[in-house]
Amino acid sequence: RRAAQQANGKDTVLGADSSSSSSSLTPTSSVTPLSTPSASVSGESTPLQQSKKQKRKIQFQGEARPKKLINKEPTTEIILQKAKDLKKHRQSLPIYTARDIIIKEVKDNACVVIVGETGSGKTTQIPQYLLESGLAAYGTIAVTQPRRVAAINLAKRVAEEVGTPIGQRVGYSIRFDDTSSRDSLIKYMTDGIMLRELLSDRLLLRYSVIILDEAHERTLRTDILFGMVKSIQKQRQDLIDKGKKDVQPLKIVIMSATLDAEKFSEYFYNAKIMYISGRMYPVKILNTVEPQSDYVDSALVTAFQIHQEEAPGDILIFLTGQEEIENLEKLIEEYGVDLPPTVGKLIPCPIFAAQDSATQQRIFEPAPPGTRKVILATNIAETSITIPNICYVIDTGCHKSRGYNAKIGIESLLVEPISKSSARQRSGRAGREAPGLCFRLYTEDAFEQLEEDAVPEIKRCNLEAAILSLKATGIDDVTGFDFMDRPSKSGMLRSLEHLYALEALDDEGHLTDIGKKMAAFPVDPPFAKVLLQSEKMECTREAIDIISLLSVDSIFSAPSAKREEANEARQKFTSLDGDHLTLLNTLRAYESVKGDRDWCRENFINSRHMRHVMDVRKQLIEFCHRAGGMDPTKSCGHDLEIVLKCFLAGFFQNTALLQPDGTYKSIIGGQTVSVHPSSSLFGKKREAIMYNELVFTTKHYIRGVSALESAWLSQAAPKYFGRRQA
Ligand code: CDP
Ligand code: MG
Repeated sequence: RRAAQQANGKDTVLGADSSSSSSSLTPTSSVTPLSTPSASVSGESTPLQQSKKQKRKIQFQGEARPKKLINKEPTTEIILQKAKDLKKHRQSLPIYTARDIIIKEVKDNACVVIVGETGSGKTTQIPQYLLESGLAAYGTIAVTQPRRVAAINLAKRVAEEVGTPIGQRVGYSIRFDDTSSRDSLIKYMTDGIMLRELLSDRLLLRYSVIILDEAHERTLRTDILFGMVKSIQKQRQDLIDKGKKDVQPLKIVIMSATLDAEKFSEYFYNAKIMYISGRMYPVKILNTVEPQSDYVDSALVTAFQIHQEEAPGDILIFLTGQEEIENLEKLIEEYGVDLPPTVGKLIPCPIFAAQDSATQQRIFEPAPPGTRKVILATNIAETSITIPNICYVIDTGCHKSRGYNAKIGIESLLVEPISKSSARQRSGRAGREAPGLCFRLYTEDAFEQLEEDAVPEIKRCNLEAAILSLKATGIDDVTGFDFMDRPSKSGMLRSLEHLYALEALDDEGHLTDIGKKMAAFPVDPPFAKVLLQSEKMECTREAIDIISLLSVDSIFSAPSAKREEANEARQKFTSLDGDHLTLLNTLRAYESVKGDRDWCRENFINSRHMRHVMDVRKQLIEFCHRAGGMDPTKSCGHDLEIVLKCFLAGFFQNTALLQPDGTYKSIIGGQTVSVHPSSSLFGKKREAIMYNELVFTTKHYIRGVSALESAWLSQAAPKYFGRRQA
């Protein structure tokens, strides 16, 4: 019997889709919503994990994973040789045949929309074509990306293809990490960074071409950029028409992986749309017969089914976030132990933002002979990054998206069903090099009920950071901004109100001095407010520390087999005041042992996350010192109540009061909220609490929770609470 089946006595039954034989299909009942995760978010262990507790563990000699690459500085010869080797690859890409026509169209037109199958070479090749054609002569070619990981990875790849070390001709710039230099001719950057650059270079004069990539994703920032670059292009042209000598025209290229490009074209004065045909092999779609209650579990079982029954070829699993990816990584390693000796290893390769680049590079390297890789990714692997040798896709049908709950006015990350168009993109990843298989962990009925396309982020999310950016970029009339899709008026008004309460806007809606400073901070408005407040309250050191600690999912690891031990270890750091100070205590202890790895292991601290925290902290310290003109070492010593008051200045909207029945109700919206089991205030009753994050799963869970006194509220936000009571 199969190892995975033995492990939990269950099989994931897959039926073929309607395009092939449908005789094995069991029709399911009417409404079958996609499953939402229970394992990773609610903190309760799944049946599968529970059964693992009794499982025997065997120690094996040797390593299940290949060793990490050693990072050596390559010599110039090696770099040039590599570029030469890659030339063939470049010329074999589908886009290569369209090279000359792309160059011509971009030269002849102010705006061009380019649509092409994922992996056809848009992101890596088009900037190089434009560079080769001389378009970088009077400015850098910028390529914006919605995701940091993609910006880094693609820049590194293109630097290799161009044949210079990263940071020279090709660089990247993401929040907290800028390798680009004045000499960079091609620069990959997140859309957030480009918005930030607009603050100091209003006409983006350092750029000759701006390529807005992954336009189909319609993130909030890309949408704002659309409006900004459109207006900048016009302003630059007006200056040229007036005879300004030192201004050059701006070229705009929009790139998208999906066919619905008419909207982009219309918005950019009916720009020409170019379609690049890709190569695609057929992909057979298999839906589950029954809805799956826990997709992480089902993905695990399916991966082992593929591994033991199907021909060689790597597997790609789409999950929703880092926690889930790490969970499944561990499970795959544990179950791999039970494989018969004749079956090769199944090597999990996670990919997410907070990991070093050597680890990340592993996903692009072939699996050792006789083994199979299973890539665990979020929807970054949907269209941003193409991983070679994928023959099997496991689609959980879910992703995380930014949502905005207008009733309680809190931004949160929701796990939601994907759209049909995403499901098609995902399955397409299996057919790049050969015919493939896509295992959808949901029924065909469930697929039919998915939305055709995702709703643009601007229609769903908290607009505060966006409005702040717009205002700081000199656009005061945000309601009159040339949005491709206008955000809801109520959402706009709510955001304006929150920004007013945060004292970022004055009575007339103009940016205040505080607002100007907040717009420049590389963190969301409430955190920016905390940092500004910390200067007044003299606790900048603590504020920076805690914000850095909040930048990762969790610094604590809680392996399901050792949950009790982990809880006990955490007691040492637990503050009665809640999570903010618990995190701070942990950081202090971590510092006192200088980040010792053994100490981390013994105390169930995730050392990788901790290193990421330290990195963010370093950058925040630098930022506060350099750009913010603040003293990042100012500390409140042992008087830590001040720190909580300081956080309240940014998060007064995320507060809840204890009810007579022992539950908490949010002050704004009156929503019942439950303290997340991972919080140090779980099961504790306090008069009032504040929280950083609200997560919707089975309940409205709050995370990053601390106790406060209700009297602090009117001090923290006099405008808000004063006005509400009036
Ligand atoms: O942007 P688009 O999806 O059209 O394609 P691309 O990202 O430019 O990728 C073109 C090719 O480069 C694909 O075959 C990728 O697998 C390959 N590539 C790679 O081998 N290593 C990277 N780090 C990035 C891309
Ligand atoms: Mg691309």
